[in-house]
Amino acid sequence: MINVLFVCLGNICRSPTAEAVMTGLLAQAGLSDRVFVDSAGTADWHVGKPADERSVAAAAERGYDMSHLRARQVNVDDFRNFDYVLAMDESNYQHLVLLCPENARAQPKKLLAHYGRLEVQDVPDPYYGGADGFHQVLDLLEDACQSLLHEIQATL
Ligand code: 4NP
Repeated sequence: MINVLFVCLGNICRSPTAEAVMTGLLAQAGLSDRVFVDSAGTADWHVGKPADERSVAAAAERGYDMSHLRARQVNVDDFRNFDYVLAMDESNYQHLVLLCPENARAQPKKLLAHYGRLEVQDVPDPYYGGADGFHQVLDLLEDACQSLLHEIQATL
């Protein structure tokens, strides 16, 4: 099993969207039983809450189900359990670098720096913006998750 964790700030917009997109791509590729996907936030403000309804609606328009997802906070054990710990932006990444223990299974990475297009390094936070932001997030995440899927397929 390969374990993939996406991390943002609140775990109600970007990282649960990434979880839903990656879960969808893995199902299409017939790899749902080979790769486990999860998401978490660096902050604890929304723990136990469903994803932002604007994220859920934008994802549903593209066929991704986020309705069952509930927020949780990232913790030090995640670095022992996950093969990929992927931050949405620089601030999430810096938080993860500080949290990462010495015997980590995975070093944190910034998702778009490794799996995105070169011109964009951070998934912008749509929380305080308009509806367009949620589709921009989906565009970036669909693209990055495709390249992550290709890398994972090459290791299976
Ligand atoms: P996320 O977005 O990190 O993509 O889940 C946010 C959600 C909530 C807040 C900030 C960002 N907040 O300040 O509550």
